[in-house]
Amino acid sequence: MALVLLFTALLLDGAATSANGRMGLTFRKTIHQAEFGIDGFACGDGPNVCDPYTGDTDCSRKLPVLCKRIDSSPRPAYVIITRNPSLNGGWLMGHVATTVPVQGSQFKNLRDVDLFCKGSFGVGWVTAAFHDGRLIPGMNNTRYSGKEWTNYGLTSTYKQGAWSFWAYVSAYNNTRHATTKIEPFTVMYDRHCQLSFDLQQTPTSIVQPCEYVKQLHQYISQANQMAQQNIEQQQQGAKSRYNQNKRNPSYDVVDYVCVARVGMRPKLASKNDGPYKITQKRGQLSYIVQDSRNLSDVKQVHVQRLRPYCQLQ
Ligand SMILES: *[C@@H]1O[C@H](CO)[C@@H](O)[C@H](O)[C@H]1NC(C)=O
Ligand SMILES: *[C@@H]1O[C@H](CO)[C@@H](O)[C@H](O)[C@H]1NC(C)=O
Ligand SMILES: *[C@@H]1O[C@H](CO)[C@@H](O)[C@H](O)[C@H]1NC(C)=O
Repeated sequence: MALVLLFTALLLDGAATSANGRMGLTFRKTIHQAEFGIDGFACGDGPNVCDPYTGDTDCSRKLPVLCKRIDSSPRPAYVIITRNPSLNGGWLMGHVATTVPVQGSQFKNLRDVDLFCKGSFGVGWVTAAFHDGRLIPGMNNTRYSGKEWTNYGLTSTYKQGAWSFWAYVSAYNNTRHATTKIEPFTVMYDRHCQLSFDLQQTPTSIVQPCEYVKQLHQYISQANQMAQQNIEQQQQGAKSRYNQNKRNPSYDVVDYVCVARVGMRPKLASKNDGPYKITQKRGQLSYIVQDSRNLSDVKQVHVQRLRPYCQLQ
């Protein structure tokens, strides 16, 4: 995915006063990883002028606010390669979103901006800040995922202070679906999802509206067909994998069987109860069984729970 060189969000964290008024810090989306549905956000990378000490952008300029929701999302297994791992590539442990463009100067303080995020996206959303990336020692050039990272960040000992971070953005619609192999958004709209971080692409061809509608319908029906085919393919695969190990047993009345226990059981306890005697067959898949040692224990069980007598383990 190409770099997107765009100033995105106005972070009032560390805003300072300049001759013209207040100055804010800008962050930008630098990279997208479709594999994980995550985006990288950075300050001061490449041509982006970024000044966390005095601010770099006049607050009267209209920009989207970068909001975050920390929901302890586990860190996906992206690789971190960085000159200075204490400065780069941290994990936000959550999602980000951008608001409509606003002037930073319309807010009195950070609390106001937090309320603006909450108003835009709901409870739990607050302003993203410069040092939100969470660092784990030794995370340079690593491919980790899972709980150890999430839990690390939840304790108070993680190190904050990255100058950039990764986060989930609109992960569902914007990410290639594993089964249909198409981004859900693209199936609906015949184009890639443009977030407010992204540079708006200039259209290269102009079509008449009715022509466009025709093309759109054509594309959407093709995309649906393709998605449908991919789903069927996946289903066939799942079916044959499932059937590979499927037994198709059948029992007769008076056979002795064991009945698999369901639910939690102590670690070393037997997996099956029994022996039971089959007293009645109900349709193809259901049997009435009676405990041979306790004649008042009679129950109806599905064939999948039955084992020939007796593989007690
Ligand atoms: C981080 O990894 C890169 C690439 O392997 C390496 O060039 C750099 O020296 C590493 N930095 C540290 C502090 O280990
Ligand atoms: C995905 O896109 C659809 C259509 O625009 C929208 O209704 C839905 O809320 C989106 N889902 C997410 C998780 O963003
Ligand atoms: C026999 O089975 C019945 C029904 O499951 C049960 O209530 C009863 O406790 C069992 N008796 C013994 C001695 O295990």
